[in-house]
Amino acid sequence: MKIQGRTFIVSGGASGLGRACILDICSRGGYAAILDLHAEAGNELVNEIGRGKTRFFECDVTETESIASAVKGSLAWVKETGMEVGGVITAAGVGNPAKILDRHLNPFSLSDFDFVMNINVRGTIDLIRQLLPHMAQTTPVGEDGERGIVVMVSSSAAFDGQPGQVSYAASKGAIASLTLPMTRDLSRYGIRVVTLAPSMFDSRMTSMLSEKARASLKRVMEFPPRPGQPHEFAQLVTQSIENIMLNGVVLRLDGGMRMPSKM
Ligand SMILES: NC(=O)c1ccc[n+]([C@@H]2O[C@H](COP(=O)([O-])OP(=O)(O)OC[C@H]3O[C@@H](n4cnc5c(N)ncnc54)[C@H](O)[C@@H]3O)[C@@H](O)[C@H]2O)c1
Repeated sequence: MKIQGRTFIVSGGASGLGRACILDICSRGGYAAILDLHAEAGNELVNEIGRGKTRFFECDVTETESIASAVKGSLAWVKETGMEVGGVITAAGVGNPAKILDRHLNPFSLSDFDFVMNINVRGTIDLIRQLLPHMAQTTPVGEDGERGIVVMVSSSAAFDGQPGQVSYAASKGAIASLTLPMTRDLSRYGIRVVTLAPSMFDSRMTSMLSEKARASLKRVMEFPPRPGQPHEFAQLVTQSIENIMLNGVVLRLDGGMRMPSKM
């Protein structure tokens, strides 16, 4: 799928990895709808890139109606520009670490678990679900009759989750496991599905880590011995969009790092 002249819908696009994808897509002649809770950051990004190529739609991915209105707005914008939807990138996500049992023997709260699952899993599926009827009816392009791509964001926590990551790992593991069945459901429409599983990347989410946690993670990094940069994540998203043979796969992006048990 060529990025040029296509619109990509990016949840969590106001910050971190999603934001980097938007910058990369727009620098390659693509268009991007930014769907995020964070209106100030979303509007700042629109001002930085220019309203011609991006639009911000305030959206809470835990609310079906909120997604519906952002999807409606995005598709109206697509109609206006004539730049058909090329794909969706679901980067909205939260960490919220909590041990399942704390040192006073209190189990973690189910509402915290639901919070993480609702954003990371339900919010991901709901956005994709609401965009698919449109994507499946676009005019197929190229020799293979491609219609678009779904890029989901898992995490290395899906495979080597750390203490305190039961909810997060459950959510990211779910995204990794649903990649293949979604691919199989959508192949008849010429829609591909790729999931990326980054390790530690610099973003607002990881800026909350303590210096001690950072230093300890640095010790288990292989090469390069540093956190990934958002543009390096965006580079793989771009490759996923452009390379038609990438489908039904979960790609780790981690510089060989495996998350340790102890920090
Ligand atoms: N940064 C990392 O090291 C790392 C590693 C592995 C996976 N990830 C995943 O990458 C994705 C992006 O994370 P990031 O590091 O860029 O974090 P980030 O905090 O910089 O960006 C996340 C964005 O999601 C938005 N968001 C949160 N809840 C939302 C909701 N209910 N509705 C709409 N938007 C919402 C936030 O406003 C924010 O703009 C997440 O799914 C995260 O789990 C990040």
